Amino acid sequence: MIEEIHIDVLVDDIPSVEDLLPLHGLSIYIVTRDDKGVFKRILFDTGPDSKILFKNAETLGVQLKPDLIFGSMPHWHHIGALDKFREAVHVIPSPPLAHASKRGLTHLPGVEGAYVLHGDTHWNEQGLALMTRKGWVVFLGCSVHGLRRTFGSSLLRLGRIWGLIGGLNISTRDNVNLSFLRKLKGKGLQLVMPLHSVSMDARKIILDGINMIDFGYEVSGCGVQSDFSFYK
Ligand SMILES: [Fe+2]
Repeated sequence: MIEEIHIDVLVDDIPSVEDLLPLHGLSIYIVTRDDKGVFKRILFDTGPDSKILFKNAETLGVQLKPDLIFGSMPHWHHIGALDKFREAVHVIPSPPLAHASKRGLTHLPGVEGAYVLHGDTHWNEQGLALMTRKGWVVFLGCSVHGLRRTFGSSLLRLGRIWGLIGGLNISTRDNVNLSFLRKLKGKGLQLVMPLHSVSMDARKIILDGINMIDFGYEVSGCGVQSDFSFYK
C-alpha cells in the first residue's frame, strides 16, 4: 500500500511555471513511500530529449536518480531519453501494433503497491496504478486512441480510482472522453491532472469542472511539483 506520492512534472507540452522548457512529450518523476517506510523513485516516461529533461530537472531542483523507468508506450516522445539511464530497470511495453497479450493488472516488480495497468488496444500502451487507502492513483502516458478507447474498460475494472494523472488525449470538444471522466468522478475520482495529450482549453475544462483537488497550480503542466498523502 502506498502512503505518500510526490510528483515532479519534468516534461510536458505546456508549462505551468516560468523558466521551464515545454516540449511535446511527457516525463513525470514519481517518489512513493509505502506503509513500511520504503521509498521508490520511478521515472514515468522520459520525454523525447534528455537535454530538456535534465535542464528542467535542474531548474526545479530535482535530482534524477530513478530506481526504475516506466515507459508508457514505445514511442520517442515518451521514451526518447531512455538510453541515458543505463543503471535503472526499464519497464516498457512490447512494440506497437503487436497484439497485447496481457489484460488488467500485473504487479510492478520491486515496488510494493504498484501495478502495470494494461491498455485495451493493440497499441499496447500501459499505465502505472498505485494502490492507496483512498483508491487507485493512475498515471497514463498518452491514451493514444483516446482515454475511453485506450484504457476505459481497464479503468472501470479497477474499482475506485482516486487520482488520474497524465496524458488523457482529450481536446476541447471531446464530449465522449470528458463524459467518461465525469463517469469516473461519479465513482469516486477526486484528482484529475491532465497533461501532454490534452489541449490547453480541455485542461481548463477538466480542472474547473471535474478535478476536486487543489494541487497548487492554475494549469497543469511542466513544472508541477505536488505531494499527496493517503493515511487513514
Ligand atoms: Fe504521446
